[in-house]
Amino acid sequence: MSSSITLHDKQFVPYIKAEEVEAAIDKLAARINEAHKNEKEPVILLCVLNGAIMFTSELMKRLTFPLELMTIKVASYAGTRSGGHIQEVMGITGSVKGRKVIVCEDIVDTGATMVYLDNRLRESGAASVEICSMLLKPEVYKQDLKLDYVAMEIPNRFIVGYGLDYDQLGRNIKDIYVLKD
Ligand code: IMP
Ligand code: MG
Repeated sequence: MSSSITLHDKQFVPYIKAEEVEAAIDKLAARINEAHKNEKEPVILLCVLNGAIMFTSELMKRLTFPLELMTIKVASYAGTRSGGHIQEVMGITGSVKGRKVIVCEDIVDTGATMVYLDNRLRESGAASVEICSMLLKPEVYKQDLKLDYVAMEIPNRFIVGYGLDYDQLGRNIKDIYVLKD
């Protein structure tokens, strides 16, 4: 892990190693597999682009029940702050009507994105909606919506890497880095 990186105007320092994230994904996948071990019909794994792309790929190779991958692209963040207003930049790549859906998210912060998607999927006729997130900032999350699966919790800090960006940069960084204060 290099000691510090610069993205645009900000400096980030090492925070969580990829190995640690992946050990947490192993445990999470085991829980999801157990809960879905008797699935007869393929479950939809809905990757929330762009941030959840690395997490989804790591998670899905550990899932052993039948599933179909779909994607959606939403945006709420500007810079290092959550905007709260959700924009559906690209709609869901298939029909969710009558299907079980597991939403795959990189990080839950205020929860506005997950509340929006949960409503959106239920309105579109999904048979069930489960929320699965790699990371959660519990100090910020104040929604009633139940988060079914969370791999790791972190304090209210701004992070990049492992799919997460600062103004589109840093998604390709293997480990997680935190904004230097
Ligand atoms: P929420 O709607 O406030 O829960 O924000 C969730 C979205 O904001 C996530 O999908 C991320 O894309 C983004 N986000 C939240 N926290 C961070 C962070 O620390 N770094 C980068 N992106 C973040
Ligand atoms: Mg995201």
